[in-house]
Amino acid sequence: MSSIHEQVMAALSTVIEPELHRDIVSLNMVRDLSVEGGTAKFTIVLTTPACPLKNVFQERCEAVLVGKVAGITAVDIQWDAQVPTDKKMFGRLDVPIRSIVAIASGKGGVGKSTVATNLAVALAEAGARVGLIDADILNPNLPMMTGLSAGHPRVVDNKMLPIEAYGVKVMSTGFITDPSKPLILRGPMLHSAIRQFFTDVEWGELDYMIVDLPPGTGDAPLSLAQSFPLTGVVIVTQPQDVAVSDALRSAAMFETLSVPVLGIVENMAGDFFGSGGGETLAERLKVPFLGRVPLNAEVRKGGDYGRPVVAYQPETDAGQAFLALAQQVAARVSVVMLQSADVIPLNVIG
Ligand SMILES: Nc1ncnc2c1ncn2[C@@H]1O[C@H](COP(=O)(O)OP(=O)(O)OP(=O)(O)O)[C@@H](O)[C@H]1O
Ligand SMILES: [Mg+2]
Repeated sequence: MSSIHEQVMAALSTVIEPELHRDIVSLNMVRDLSVEGGTAKFTIVLTTPACPLKNVFQERCEAVLVGKVAGITAVDIQWDAQVPTDKKMFGRLDVPIRSIVAIASGKGGVGKSTVATNLAVALAEAGARVGLIDADILNPNLPMMTGLSAGHPRVVDNKMLPIEAYGVKVMSTGFITDPSKPLILRGPMLHSAIRQFFTDVEWGELDYMIVDLPPGTGDAPLSLAQSFPLTGVVIVTQPQDVAVSDALRSAAMFETLSVPVLGIVENMAGDFFGSGGGETLAERLKVPFLGRVPLNAEVRKGGDYGRPVVAYQPETDAGQAFLALAQQVAARVSVVMLQSADVIPLNVIG
């Protein structure tokens, strides 16, 4: 007869991680099992602190243990999270960053910077270590959107320190250039400027680096997308048709670069623009639809005043939409990393 520990682990190995399609024991997500009285106590190590599936795991673990394994009457789960490291980082980056997610769009003004900011803040609120790079070098918006317009990064040991807002470490050319003078940078200079955001900035350890790209499929976004070992890209679109066809071109560009499209976000949904374009696009590209953010004056004001709606009005429809979006994006990052042969398995990361 096997020990109670073995029986509990055997039962837990029938619980399947719904997105990775593998059981939670072979994924090494179950740790520190102890059985006391009738209670099986263990830790589940999630692949992101912003996991949308906690309740699902709780229910499924209870379902296979309570009354199914002799002697177990209760389950006590502790939660922990370790974001896996995208192996593409090795040799490319000299900094401990586990994943890089770009925010892109086919046309300008659809809400990339707004999505990037609120996504970064939501991930940080969930407990992740998050960086945010303004890769819109010529037209930096993130200082305003994060309330850091007056910010100047400190330099320590020849490295710039990112400036923190809402728990997110932010870097933008807006911090180091004079906004009244035009910044003229082309091709290779753009490329090297953005690389310096990695090499010359002291980020510390990060779970997610969010990169706000300039719009479109021209030189600048292309060069920028090639500057980073991107884990994946989130494409922001508006509900109406024109934006959708531009977004198709944007997705095609990332496909050419072998960057996985994590999914589509439809921004500014509502009476004015309608809704549904994002889902249509996701279907055409055969990628997940990650969520819809309503057109909402509070979102715009939040951007203008540097008060992201997800931090200031999390209870509003838009706030809730961004929180849910962050969970979906985090889950997709985990899936893309763990499904790729390029990933370090969960059990060997520290
Ligand atoms: N869901 C929304 N509801 C209302 N206003 C929004 C919403 N999303 C973004 N906005 C507003 O729309 C404008 C454009 O958004 P944003 O700057 O994020 O777009 P962008 O795609 O980054 O633009 P660009 O292509 O110029 O970089 C901003 O004023 C922003 O506050
Ligand atoms: Mg922008």
